[in-house]
Amino acid sequence: KEIKDQFIIDAGQKHFGATTCKSCGMIYSASNPEDELQHAQYHQRFLEGIKYAGWKKERVVAEFWDGKIVLVLPHDPNYAIRKVEDVQELVDDELGFHQVIPRCPNKTKTFLFISDEKKVVGCLIAEPIKQAFRVLSEPTGPESPSSKECHRAWQCSNVPQPAVCGISRIWVFRLKRRKRIARRLVDTLRNCFMFGCFLSTDEIAFSDPTPDGKLFATKYCNT
Ligand code: ACO
Ligand code: ZN
Repeated sequence: KEIKDQFIIDAGQKHFGATTCKSCGMIYSASNPEDELQHAQYHQRFLEGIKYAGWKKERVVAEFWDGKIVLVLPHDPNYAIRKVEDVQELVDDELGFHQVIPRCPNKTKTFLFISDEKKVVGCLIAEPIKQAFRVLSEPTGPESPSSKECHRAWQCSNVPQPAVCGISRIWVFRLKRRKRIARRLVDTLRNCFMFGCFLSTDEIAFSDPTPDGKLFATKYCNT
């Protein structure tokens, strides 16, 4: 019994040592020099990447009480393209994506959610597509692997469905999640992707969703 109690106390202390940085959102152990160094490096790069000074020519496509959405197109000035590249690099790092080359880079639309603290706290990258494969509901039953084990291997239908717009990335800064930022980004995309029409949820598709992405997409498409 004593041993068990001791174990619980140790585990508690380990957890207690973990700090979440209020600016960059990284969880690290402040008592571990290696962790601290890693945090310092990440912190610097992250804050630089999401800083948004404001542009002379910016395409504001939606405004909210807590921020605005800016659309960046492929032929925009260099400073805008560079910001999109910086943000995409951070997002890809977090998602573990490696250099995914867009299929038609000159048709990509990037939506940035800018907070009222002048930071990029959300990003959605969309591209035109012709078809998509519907994700099938997860297999259930004692013999099927649990959803924890098959991280990204969602079962897809092999019957293509017509679609118009593919979401290749959607990301919200960790400390700003569950504030409907992703939802507002997708609403804005549906409104702006094709001039003069509001895309239905059947016309948009999420490519290679992560578990977070799948939870969001399922909820979004059913409401
Ligand atoms: N778990 C359960 N439900 C969720 C989650 C979650 N992690 N995230 C969103 N939802 C559902 C909820 O029902 C939520 O409504 P509620 O908060 O009123 O319950 C609804 O979706 C709307 O959520 P938002 O607040 O609009 O979503 P958020 O701004 O938090 O962003 C996102 C969601 C983009 C998936 C965010 O969690 C994220 O950036 N995650 C890490 C990056 C990632 O995995 N991106 C998806 C990659 S897949 C792709 O890019 C195609
Ligand atoms: Zn930090």
